[in-house]
Amino acid sequence: MDSILVTGNGPLNGQIPIAGAKNACLTLMPATLLSEEPLTLTNAPRLSDIRTMTELLQSLGAEVTSMQDGKVLAMSSHDINNHRADYDIVRKMRASILVLGPMLAREGHAVVSLPGGCAIGARPVDLHLKALEALGAELELKDGYVHAKAVGGLKGGTFEFPIVSVGATENALMAATLAKGTTVLKNAAREPEIVDLAHCLRRMGAQIDGEGTSTITIQGVDRLGGATHPVVTDRIELGTFMLAPAICGGRVELLGGRRDLVEAFCLKLEQAGVHIEETEKGLIVDRNGSRVKAVDVTTEPFPGFPTDLQAQMMALLCTADGTSVLEEKIFENRFMHAPELIRMGASIDVQGGHATVHGVEKLKGAPVMATDLRASVSLILAGLAAEGETVVNRVYHLDRGYERVEEKLEGVGAKIERVTG
Ligand code: EPZ
Repeated sequence: MDSILVTGNGPLNGQIPIAGAKNACLTLMPATLLSEEPLTLTNAPRLSDIRTMTELLQSLGAEVTSMQDGKVLAMSSHDINNHRADYDIVRKMRASILVLGPMLAREGHAVVSLPGGCAIGARPVDLHLKALEALGAELELKDGYVHAKAVGGLKGGTFEFPIVSVGATENALMAATLAKGTTVLKNAAREPEIVDLAHCLRRMGAQIDGEGTSTITIQGVDRLGGATHPVVTDRIELGTFMLAPAICGGRVELLGGRRDLVEAFCLKLEQAGVHIEETEKGLIVDRNGSRVKAVDVTTEPFPGFPTDLQAQMMALLCTADGTSVLEEKIFENRFMHAPELIRMGASIDVQGGHATVHGVEKLKGAPVMATDLRASVSLILAGLAAEGETVVNRVYHLDRGYERVEEKLEGVGAKIERVTG
């Protein structure tokens, strides 16, 4: 199992390129199942999750060809010859549930394994199922699988999400494009990845209005065509790497960064005393040595502060001047990075969904354990500014969501290396 060694090495300077969004790509790829025509994605990120989704789509009979060192994914689902998404693939990546809506809409039946929970929470998929039932799907849960059918095809309907769900909105949005009649999704997720999916589906011929707002209206069509679509910039990778100069000091330009994708996060960074500047090529983050100030953070659905940046923000606040309170309102168990940061000398008190961080002058390097994707990178960020060496174990989590993280950080002066174990 690989580990990453990080040694505090002073301010960072230079440029970091930001890749296409993992969480956009993981819903854009299943969209190929909606059409017999080819769908090509450009600006795709090179990540293990993308390879897992490729494996899943190929197991259903889709052709997926990775080109240009993985940045282009040429897909075609002309012949779907298997309608069962097996547990051994789905358990590796929960986003596999996103093949359910498209397969049901195009083929009228699908059998998809329930994904099960993960480290950050139980993560049920009940809202995915309820939304598809509102479109006329008949679902039966048996032996850990969802057996879905839509006799005579899906029909347009109205569904109001009781809580905002990114994945359930994506599943319902994709299914509704081929449902007969009009679908209205209320209290829909507004994340940029949903907007990107809607843009891609529209390129394929779907009739969609309202993406990015809480109400999305879809007029079903008989069939969708092909398209070529660029994957939107990864706002979570962007926010993650913006924190590197914020934590270490220095001046780093994030190439491809767009402030509109991370507005709530930028406001918090600026409140903490970090300078952010928009340039033609992206965003510059500059912290000129003055200590960051403590700020309070509450995670919310977009456009609020993203839960996927909570762990990384905590790494910054560990050495802030003052006490910060982080409230995690999306997932029930997303503070597992806290005990690891405490091993590095942080002062953090976790009570349920709240973590109170008392800023200390400096963290000290230590061997730490990555528990989930975003926690892993939060430990690397903490190690960048800690005294001495930090060894982050179990970095397979990291490779799911960040391409070549050590190269990108080394490129701006970080002392970091991967040890293959
Ligand atoms: C997506 O997960 C992202 N994953 C997550 O990123 C992200 O943290 C999350 O959205 C929130 O922004 C992908 O896009 C692949 P949800 P998703 O449905 O769709 C509950 C990362 O690090 N819920 O918006 O699974 C759920 O338990 C990952 O890249 C139900 O109760 O998230 C959670 O508490 C981690 N029933 C809340 O809703 C359901 O049917 C929000 O979940 C679905 C969700």
